[in-house]
Amino acid sequence: MTSPSNNSAPSETVISARDLRLTLGEGEAAVEILRGIDLDVAAGETLALLGPSGSGKSSLMSVLTGLERATSGKLTVAGEDFTALDEDALAQARRGRIGIVLQAFHLLPTMTAVENVATPLELAGIRGATERASEELEAVGLGHRLTHYPAQLSGGEQQRVAIARAIASRPPLIFADEPTGNLDTSTGSSVEDVLFRRREETGATLIIITHDRKLAERCDRVVTLGDGLIASDTAKS
Ligand SMILES: Nc1ncnc2c1ncn2[C@@H]1O[C@H](COP(=O)(O)OP(=O)(O)OP(=O)(O)O)[C@@H](O)[C@H]1O
Ligand SMILES: [Mg+2]
Repeated sequence: MTSPSNNSAPSETVISARDLRLTLGEGEAAVEILRGIDLDVAAGETLALLGPSGSGKSSLMSVLTGLERATSGKLTVAGEDFTALDEDALAQARRGRIGIVLQAFHLLPTMTAVENVATPLELAGIRGATERASEELEAVGLGHRLTHYPAQLSGGEQQRVAIARAIASRPPLIFADEPTGNLDTSTGSSVEDVLFRRREETGATLIIITHDRKLAERCDRVVTLGDGLIASDTAKS
């Protein structure tokens, strides 16, 4: 089912999920949000995750990135058994390896744009964090907004800071939840270009949640969720 994005040697599997389930809430209020997901993603693959609102896309991303723990099932990400790691170990496993653009951007309100991007770099022990952060912000068209606080930025600008922050450490795995959802067409496509260019440069695996068919078509593979299950999984021929 997986399709390596190039036709050289078969790529290694970076994500392997078996019968992943996620139940949130307790007792009467319990909702089974992921109902048995099987998914293998090859290194370097670009994958679009589609599906109706409420189908479980963001929840699946939370589990695959270790932000949320699956209720049951088996999950290996970049060689780590995510079902066996505790919260601290998951955070450690993510650092510098998994770049995440959340649907709500989660910028730190007390930090400027450049500080939001530089801080995770510093935490990952990367030198020249501020310079790198400035370059990343320039790449998403925000060179003129470096010292603005999130509250002083538009929704689309905040989204671009979140993207710069996610990719600044050049992680081998990038997840983005509707990264162009708040952007006009031209800003959206230039931000897409930033993501795909970075993928080209680093060979990163790129998983993008989107409602945008055009963006999905740029990916090697399109996976559609429906009601907590994979409804279709199509690789580009
Ligand atoms: N903390 C929670 N407790 C209970 N149910 C939740 C919780 N978080 C999400 N859900 C439910 O899980 C389902 C899947 O949500 P999720 O955010 O993954 O959907 P999505 O596919 O990303 O939708 P959208 O396209 O609107 O972003 C929804 O029905 C949502 O109401
Ligand atoms: Mg969502």
